Amino acid sequence: MIREIKMRRSIRNYNNKSVEDEKILQLLESARLAPSGSNTQPWHFIVVKSELTKQKLAKASHNQKWMLSAPVFIVCVADIRCRIEGTVDVILNENSPQEELKQILRDTSISMEHILLEAENLGLGTCWVAWFTQDEIRPILNIPTDKYVVGIITLGYANEAPKARPRKNLKEIIHYETW
Ligand SMILES: Cc1cc2nc3c(=O)[nH]c(=O)nc-3n(C[C@H](O)[C@H](O)[C@H](O)COP(=O)(O)O)c2cc1C
Repeated sequence: MIREIKMRRSIRNYNNKSVEDEKILQLLESARLAPSGSNTQPWHFIVVKSELTKQKLAKASHNQKWMLSAPVFIVCVADIRCRIEGTVDVILNENSPQEELKQILRDTSISMEHILLEAENLGLGTCWVAWFTQDEIRPILNIPTDKYVVGIITLGYANEAPKARPRKNLKEIIHYETW
């Protein structure tokens, strides 16, 4: 696993080879098996291949045009209904004080990282995109306002081999016994 962790890069340039459906399913299977608080599994995934829909999503993501070279987007959505059931009106956005939002964001992010690492294992490139607002993304995909779009994963075969971006040294981030 450390190989995939070390070799993964954010890929922002893809070639035009399409991604096999079995590989997409394997990525989603790796997401399905992620851990979550109280095993609530708040995640949902929308697989988008339509050029028109991808254009709308890229435009809503601050017009990041590089996204369009990816043949597939996986839109990763957290559903608060695993924690707040019933008919209580919950409208989620970036400023929402709803405390369960933190939990579903945390859990869905774990499942997204599973996708990124399994994609690396399958020879696929990915990039996590989160530079958008809920109000702009949700209507494009008919996502209700009690769901939160955590990120869009662009997916495809890489057409670039970026160098590793720097990370902090271990000694900057490790503490023993206390802070
Ligand atoms: C939550 C999150 C949001 C991100 N949003 C974007 C984005 O909108 N556009 C983009 O080009 N990269 C985005 N990235 C990719 C980061 O820039 C990238 O992970 C970071 O620079 C480290 O590079 P690496 O992934 O190649 O190691 C995002 C990454 C994360 C984890």
